[in-house]
Amino acid sequence: DFVVVMPSMKDAVIQHLRDSFFADEPLNKAVGLCERGQPHAALERLCLATMTDGLSIAAMDGDKVLGVALNGILRHGDIEQSIEKIKQSTDEKFNKIFNILYTVSRDLNLFNTFEVDLIMECRIISVHENARGRGLAKELMKRSIDLARDNEFKLFKVDATGAFSQRICRSLSLEELKSVRYDEYCDESGTPIFRVPPPDHALCVMILKLP
Ligand code: ACO
Repeated sequence: DFVVVMPSMKDAVIQHLRDSFFADEPLNKAVGLCERGQPHAALERLCLATMTDGLSIAAMDGDKVLGVALNGILRHGDIEQSIEKIKQSTDEKFNKIFNILYTVSRDLNLFNTFEVDLIMECRIISVHENARGRGLAKELMKRSIDLARDNEFKLFKVDATGAFSQRICRSLSLEELKSVRYDEYCDESGTPIFRVPPPDHALCVMILKLP
């Protein structure tokens, strides 16, 4: 079953993310953000805030969450505000990840380029280890795009950090707006900030214009 995430499902979704996403997402994994099953306060705050937008979708097996697409609304000034927030944080691993995500998006100047006031953003797509490779993530993304259309968003965006999420985006006709190779994203001494093993090799900002 695919359902829109309701407030009553927040705890189950967070537990799913601790078990599946927090340790497995390519950038989280590269910096060793957290162990499987462990909480991460800052990441959970972002997930909970995204869920309050009411645009997230879960794949359920009874009352068990098999996968989620956490979708939120991006408004003018949100990215700049988030960049200021991480400057005050001392969590280096978390900051590394959100620094690349936020600065790449900020530099794309999406609101002016696409002449929109609101963007629907798929911030997290995650499927439980045991349920992967069966098309669940693709279906979650497809339904997210349908929800964006139904809610009259003109732009759907994904920061796809790995090969499989990028494959899903391409198969649903999203276009690659910007790609940053991890081996070319370096600190001042020329050392790559993320060591990401294949098949994941770049962050791709993918978008779909909705008529
Ligand atoms: N090996 C080879 N190909 C794979 C694999 C694999 N292990 N897993 C998925 N694929 C391919 C599929 O073949 C499919 O391509 P196709 O349609 O051309 O056949 C495509 O990737 C999508 O497959 P799905 O079955 O829809 O994906 P799945 O349900 O397995 O979930 C996901 C993919 C969400 C990336 C899962 O692996 C996961 O939760 N990973 C950890 C979290 C993560 O990295 N999330 C994405 C980060 S970006 C973001 O969140 C916005």
